[in-house]
Amino acid sequence: MIGCQLHYAQAPCERPQALNSRFSFVQSKTSMEEMGFGSPNKFARRVKGRLQVIKVYPQLEEDLLVRLFHKGVKSQWTVEDVNWNDPIQFTPQQSYALARMLTPVYLGEQSAMIGASVALPQMAQAGETTAQLYLSSFLMDEARHFEVLTRLYQRLQADPLTIRQMPEMLRYHNRLRKGDRLDWVWGILISDIFAKNFYSTYAKTQPEALFGKLSGRIVKDESRHQAFAEHYLKTSLPTVPRERYQVLLDMKDELLTIMDTMYMRLHDDAESVGIDGRKFLDRLRADIENKAQRIGLNGSRDPHSPGGQPINSGAKRGVSSSTAPHPPISFKALKPSKCSSCYLALLCRTPLFQRAQCV
Ligand SMILES: [Fe+2]
Ligand SMILES: [Fe+2]
Repeated sequence: MIGCQLHYAQAPCERPQALNSRFSFVQSKTSMEEMGFGSPNKFARRVKGRLQVIKVYPQLEEDLLVRLFHKGVKSQWTVEDVNWNDPIQFTPQQSYALARMLTPVYLGEQSAMIGASVALPQMAQAGETTAQLYLSSFLMDEARHFEVLTRLYQRLQADPLTIRQMPEMLRYHNRLRKGDRLDWVWGILISDIFAKNFYSTYAKTQPEALFGKLSGRIVKDESRHQAFAEHYLKTSLPTVPRERYQVLLDMKDELLTIMDTMYMRLHDDAESVGIDGRKFLDRLRADIENKAQRIGLNGSRDPHSPGGQPINSGAKRGVSSSTAPHPPISFKALKPSKCSSCYLALLCRTPLFQRAQCV
């Protein structure tokens, strides 16, 4: 029996009584349906007041997300596959400038890794099995990017900026953690477009240098991330309530404004490493607007259209509006003051934040 291979599923297969004593099994058909869980083949338990669901034998059809997952698994590489003796092709002053320029991207890699670990249980709760599979490989990619950039800083012999030196980074990542998985996927798509544009610049202009080669590898991963987010959002957006749609539009503008402010600070560093900051940001804005258009987030929605149907084929309850009275697990609900494992608390334990003494 397939389900018995799963950790949480072992107990019900072998010791149903023991399961009931350890997990709160939702037996009422009505309450399960109310929660959007139609199948009795799911086991629910409460962790710190929140409902978590494991479906023993979920439907797993091959879709784009499964194919992206396979691609991701086959494309794995590690820091040990990089030739760290490749030339840097930067003067010490340029290395210093690159270290500063790279900081928001570097923090973005850590933030994406931590954020995925928060979005994954939400997808489980919504029955989005293939999205969960895909996100597991995404998490591995972002962990690798984080590790590899940490190593790069050592090779450059330069430190990233601190949050104190660039407080906009905290604003940016606070915005990413608000809302639920739909907000997160949209925010991460914007960040991925930024990262892809940044890395592509060096992959093209320095193909033989250490950072150029690293960038070429990372860009391939970021392409998969974009494909996932585009697919997920394209499927979900036509059915979200219109207030929610407006929140996502506003989020794009907010993130772009923060990016503008960040790179105003980095103007001189960008010049030093041969990047025209203004042109870069203009191209980035155009790419993000273009992507928004493709996924149907272009502000042209009929203001009288109610939307609000469930998202994705596997999701019965959909993504709740940020203004809903009882939202599902959400980043917003995770308060740093009361939680030692939440998104912001985890982010605050990273060296960048600790140096800024934000905790
Ligand atoms: Fe990344
Ligand atoms: Fe990414």
